[in-house]
Amino acid sequence: MPIERNELRRVMGHFATGVTVITTVSKSGTPYGLTANAFTSVSLEPPLLLIAVDKKAESYPFFNESKVFTVNILSDEQESLSRKFAVSGGDKFQGVAYRMGANGAPILEGALAYLECKLFAAYDGGDHTLFLGEIEQAETRELKPLLFYRGGYRSISG
Ligand SMILES: Cc1cc2nc3c(=O)[nH]c(=O)nc-3n(C[C@H](O)[C@H](O)[C@H](O)COP(=O)(O)O)c2cc1C
Repeated sequence: MPIERNELRRVMGHFATGVTVITTVSKSGTPYGLTANAFTSVSLEPPLLLIAVDKKAESYPFFNESKVFTVNILSDEQESLSRKFAVSGGDKFQGVAYRMGANGAPILEGALAYLECKLFAAYDGGDHTLFLGEIEQAETRELKPLLFYRGGYRSISG
């Protein structure tokens, strides 16, 4: 018997992660984004990363439409941004400082790091789609990361 959904959430919550906002863009240039922690490095040659996006997310169709996305790794000063981008729909970029990157997807100001990608491959992942992105540009800043553990936001004390 497969594990029950809430129990799966509870157990997976024991894996401490960083927090990202993954951004993309529609054909008409409207920015989209969602908070995500299903993110991992995959390959160095070629440089690939993986994200998992809920097929029911409002931003979902625009990953396939634009074939570009950017992973913005949040700093511990961006918890409110994480909360904002975790609410589905609406204009989440209202009042948010960002610029369009070289790939056309938004880069959030104040992020700890960002990785600009073009879509490399997409795989079915149950109620999510696994998107592999080929990393074209990336940058970091000297800030502390925002962490997520057992359903709550944390930061590194040391
Ligand atoms: C800490 C955290 C991590 C999340 N990770 C993911 C994720 O990896 N993939 C995903 O599809 N949704 C994830 N979500 C949920 C989305 O942020 C949420 O469903 C959002 O409302 C989707 O936005 P949209 O419908 O406007 O696209 C996460 C939420 C939080 C708070």
